[in-house]
Amino acid sequence: MFNKIELPYNYEALEPYIDKETINIHYNKHLQTYVNNLNKLLEGHEDFAKGKTLGKILSDTESIPEDIRQGVINQGGGVFNHNLYFSILSPTPKKAPEGKLLDEINATFGNLENLKQNISNAAIAQFGSGYAFLVKDENGKLSVISILNQNSPLSNNLIPILCIDVWEHAYYLKYKNLRADYVKNIWNVIDWGKVEGLYMNYSI
Ligand SMILES: [Fe+2]
Repeated sequence: MFNKIELPYNYEALEPYIDKETINIHYNKHLQTYVNNLNKLLEGHEDFAKGKTLGKILSDTESIPEDIRQGVINQGGGVFNHNLYFSILSPTPKKAPEGKLLDEINATFGNLENLKQNISNAAIAQFGSGYAFLVKDENGKLSVISILNQNSPLSNNLIPILCIDVWEHAYYLKYKNLRADYVKNIWNVIDWGKVEGLYMNYSI
């Protein structure tokens, strides 16, 4: 049985940038549905799922039984991506990274502002539903990617350490069609302390 993370803040805690109702529906309805669907899919496949983390499953999609493979990619990705998304948001975020992550950002993107712009552009330009991700490869090298639907960077051997959900359900109640405003504002609640932790100590 897989589950959603415990939300580390109240539904209204991210206001005015992300509103209470959006967090409530996003977390309790959308994410919960992915959780329920994933667990239902895995019924009867206990031997396959036993002892595996969701990250492990998504990083080796070929090993997923064929009859449930696409379903697990969709629903499992939905659980994993949302758990990441909700976990890196905070009402009291660390505003900038330090240490090795900052060094790597500076080396790859020039500076933090350039990286944020890069991620924002990927999020705004994503056609349809998906995410913008900051990922690291096995050598710690960073890149920005956009991903369609609920696919996981893990399936391409990339470890996600930050994501912006740009499915309409993530912003429509408050921002309507103005995705760019949502993307601009979400930086106020992205906790670089969490991202640093994932960069330094991520294990799938
Ligand atoms: Fe979402």
